[in-house]
Amino acid sequence: MSELCVRSTTPHDAHALLALQELVYPTIAPWRRDQLAKQLEVFPQGQLVAELDGRIVGCASALVVLWDEWADEHTWTQITASGTFTTHNPNGFTLYGAEVFVDPQLRAMGVGHALYEGRRQLCRIMNLRRIIACGRLPGYQAVALKMSAELYAKKVLWGDLNDPVLSFQLREGFRYCGIMHDYLPEDSASCGHASLIVWINSDFDSARPTTLQSAMTPFTIDRP
Ligand SMILES: CC(C)(COP(=O)(O)OP(=O)(O)OC[C@H]1O[C@@H](n2cnc3c(N)ncnc32)[C@H](O)[C@@H]1OP(=O)(O)O)[C@@H](O)C(=O)NCCC(=O)NCCS
Repeated sequence: MSELCVRSTTPHDAHALLALQELVYPTIAPWRRDQLAKQLEVFPQGQLVAELDGRIVGCASALVVLWDEWADEHTWTQITASGTFTTHNPNGFTLYGAEVFVDPQLRAMGVGHALYEGRRQLCRIMNLRRIIACGRLPGYQAVALKMSAELYAKKVLWGDLNDPVLSFQLREGFRYCGIMHDYLPEDSASCGHASLIVWINSDFDSARPTTLQSAMTPFTIDRP
């Protein structure tokens, strides 16, 4: 029996994490070491990895934003300050998911679910109102000549099409809010577009302050 662990990222994870990111996105540049170091400096509690038998097999990274400043429109580069997360704002109530990926050889085994569970835990212990993210639409390019990104996303919602990312996120309890055009232009599989999604934290208590310094308690899941 193998053990999958979700825990906070540390600087020691950098090499393995960046190597995995390069494997996951052959056509998109991985973070530079200094970008990852900055993320860990700015908001270490928001950076999670999944580890299977001591090996890094996935990552979920996030920052906190004042959503009203970004709600109208934004790109990945703008809201993450080019991947440095210096846009992290402790006055915000929104955990913004900047990245999530899983080892291609370990997909559909619940690693992504465990990382999302870690994010939901963060949101609850920090008393944040919600998680917002802009998800890739990697199935879109194959049908882009036949339909708009909006119609594609609707077809995924209606169950007519399956998208490797959006279908997963809907199953994780996220609601679809619309298309963000030109969110990540170098993401050719999504034709640069993304789906704006939200998960509402039903435990959020507006009478209590947020506690961003709370770290997530690492948890493990048995894997066959
Ligand atoms: C999106 C991503 C993170 C999902 O990770 P994952 O580990 O495959 O996710 P899970 O295993 O938890 O769930 C994936 C699917 O497998 C299914 N699944 C989970 N455990 C399973 C099991 N034990 N047996 C069979 N199927 C299983 C889930 O039901 C889910 O189905 P769904 O897509 O219809 O919801 C992963 O596909 C990925 O890294 N993609 C590339 C990077 C990327 O594009 N990231 C998104 C950035 S916005």
